[in-house]
Amino acid sequence: MPADPLASGTCLPKVLVVMRCSLKRSLAAAISLLVFLLIINLASWPHEDLELKNVQNWARSVGVHEIVADWTLYSLQTVTNTTNVLNISYRYLAGMAPLQKKFLTLGLCSVKRKRESYLLETLTSIFKQSSQEELKEMVVVVHLTDPDQEWNSQMVQQIATRFPAQLLQRYLVVIHTPLEYYPPLEGLKRNFNDAEDRVRFRSKQNVDYAYLVNFAANLSTYYLMIEDDVHCSKYFFTVIRRNLASQKGTSWVTLEFSKLGYIAKLYHSSDLPRLARFLMLFYQEMPCDWLFVHFRLLLTQKEEIRFKPSLFQHIGRYSSFQGTLNRLKDEDFEEDLSELPDNPPADIVTDIVTFKNYKPSKAYSSVEGYFWGKAPSAGNSFTVIFKQAVSIFRIQIHTGSQQHPESYLQEGLVALGTQKLHTWRPGCTNYIPIGYFDQGNFDKQNLESSTSSDPECVHIVVTKNQSESLIINSISIWIKPKP
Ligand SMILES: *[C@@H]1O[C@H](CO)[C@@H](O)[C@H](O)[C@H]1NC(C)=O
Ligand SMILES: *[C@@H]1O[C@H](CO)[C@@H](O)[C@H](O)[C@H]1NC(C)=O
Ligand SMILES: *[C@@H]1O[C@H](CO)[C@@H](O)[C@H](O)[C@H]1NC(C)=O
Ligand SMILES: *[C@@H]1O[C@H](CO)[C@@H](O)[C@H](O)[C@H]1NC(C)=O
Repeated sequence: MPADPLASGTCLPKVLVVMRCSLKRSLAAAISLLVFLLIINLASWPHEDLELKNVQNWARSVGVHEIVADWTLYSLQTVTNTTNVLNISYRYLAGMAPLQKKFLTLGLCSVKRKRESYLLETLTSIFKQSSQEELKEMVVVVHLTDPDQEWNSQMVQQIATRFPAQLLQRYLVVIHTPLEYYPPLEGLKRNFNDAEDRVRFRSKQNVDYAYLVNFAANLSTYYLMIEDDVHCSKYFFTVIRRNLASQKGTSWVTLEFSKLGYIAKLYHSSDLPRLARFLMLFYQEMPCDWLFVHFRLLLTQKEEIRFKPSLFQHIGRYSSFQGTLNRLKDEDFEEDLSELPDNPPADIVTDIVTFKNYKPSKAYSSVEGYFWGKAPSAGNSFTVIFKQAVSIFRIQIHTGSQQHPESYLQEGLVALGTQKLHTWRPGCTNYIPIGYFDQGNFDKQNLESSTSSDPECVHIVVTKNQSESLIINSISIWIKPKP
């Protein structure tokens, strides 16, 4: 009887087989543990939230599969250790990382497209729409991720020709990650019944992003993800910085400055090592536009925080996957931000009972959303209290909304306040009325000399009981006339 090579086999192959098995087993065990912890963590959250429920189910279904089929133990260790960045030697194709830590990094990945490329146009827009002062505080990282090295080097030559000064000043750096650092891109799970080439495309894209944010983790305080086919608003940097100031003291994971794709999503750079690992762990599960939402939810930011207007516009007409038509536009995009209100830093107080999450601050900040309160009575008020006294040129207030036009302020006035109270009762002592609401709206200019000293409060007073609820859609304050 011929001997079964496996049954009788020599010692060596057996040892190898056992070793490989135990490696695989420990990999699977580690991943199961991770997912288990994730589920425990999620299970302790309030149950009414449907979105969280979905994440729970998703984490559970991921848990029953092996995430990475055939990868080295080294990869797993580096992926799960969140204390440091992934140890990857990037290739610098052009430019160098900045010498000092910047305020903001803009990061994007680019691959060869079947049709037009928009990368140079995107870079041109960023550098053209920013002032020298702004550029000094940011750096743009381009991750060229095409497997075709020929294309990468052609592209880097074009970039070097178009942006020599920006490369020299370290405002721009172009990198590439060698393919040997990529996990398997063949034979992946075909979730959502996606075609194999689509699965490969989106899985590789997740890894492209993971290595990009991993590279950027140490470059700046904040990181903005953009795509290689966008236009930006003039002075977007300053607007981002102003909006960041308005979020001071709140905890957030992702701030959004566009409603499309993986465009204009802002992170704390300190979260990037973790984001990189997250993208690696789930790289074959779903596209990045869905993964980044799960990341925010897992770090317990339940609601999307999106600012208006949008600061980046999608310009590509063909997608980078197979060049299919993709004309998505963000209708909240505004190129010229010079008319944006200044809304200096302030606290908001009101004695009108607030509905659920329609917080008073939403009327004042440029975060999407508005204040919504119970039907107010005469004497109720809504007060903006500035952190510092400020000269005011113009105030514009809109109440009601398109969906709820009846929820406007039927009768009310606006007053400017001085002599801020520093007691338990926030507000000002001295109020000078400056005008009345007309059909729920208020707009008045040339207010600089309405008060003897710079105002510290803007006070909205309800002057008649109303039976309809009240929406304050926006409060806009300009400190100077338009340029
Ligand atoms: C994670 O990385 C740090 C720094 O390299 C190292 O000191 C630590 O031992 C690692 N932790 C694990 C669990 O591997
Ligand atoms: C990073 O990787 C290189 C080679 O891949 C290795 O020589 C080096 O020791 C690694 N560094 C750390 C901190 O793990
Ligand atoms: C991060 O930057 C600091 C200073 O710029 C440098 O000392 C440190 O080694 C960097 N860390 C990593 C992981 O690159
Ligand atoms: C207005 O509402 C308040 C409290 O809801 C009530 O006490 C007062 O009588 C009302 N005034 C009028 C004129 O209806």
